[in-house]
Amino acid sequence: MTKKRVAVLISGRGSNMSALIKAAKAQDYPAEIVLVVSNEPAASGLAIAREAGIASAIVDHRSFGADREAFEHALDRELHAHRIELVCLAGFMRLLTPWFVNRWSGRMLNIHPALLPQFKWLHTHSRALAAGVKHHGATVHFVVPEMDSGPIVVQDSVPVVEGDTEETLAKRVLAVEHRIYPQALRLVAEGRVTLRSLGDEKNGVR
Ligand code: GRF
Repeated sequence: MTKKRVAVLISGRGSNMSALIKAAKAQDYPAEIVLVVSNEPAASGLAIAREAGIASAIVDHRSFGADREAFEHALDRELHAHRIELVCLAGFMRLLTPWFVNRWSGRMLNIHPALLPQFKWLHTHSRALAAGVKHHGATVHFVVPEMDSGPIVVQDSVPVVEGDTEETLAKRVLAVEHRIYPQALRLVAEGRVTLRSLGDEKNGVR
């Protein structure tokens, strides 16, 4: 089996990255994590990646000022240098331009701590508590230019219980994240889930 070469993009502690690294150790897992890139030089996840013997790189967005595309070109060069086939965003806190997103279309996943399309963007746990929902959860989706809006690959829920705080709920959701991200990456790496545009259907592309 040829394993897909995967890069994980992080900005912080990298617990989802760790879950992917752990899952990818299994012999029958269809992907290998060969690169971790952080836009934050101080991201604690970088040390975890190094300890795991995985190549890591820092592409600091601050070096590029307001030029988002220049930042993304640097990121893209890093990905190509490592012959990356799939990209997993895991707590990567930069908005990506349509240029980068379209370049990696169908080959880039993100994890979001909510049951999309509910609670897009930030502060999902406090917003879920404020809304009084009975179920909350996490979603892995393909990245499209509109934030947190791409087709869903895997989603799972947890109950919201009496007395939950942002922290207790976040912890319960994080356990789901760590379970579903490896599942979603497996499905995509095996080609069992693919992103097709409506245009493809019209043109008879399968
Ligand atoms: C996770 O909750 C993820 O869903 C969100 O940011 C957090 C990152 O956590 N996008 P970690 O760095 O993977 O521990």
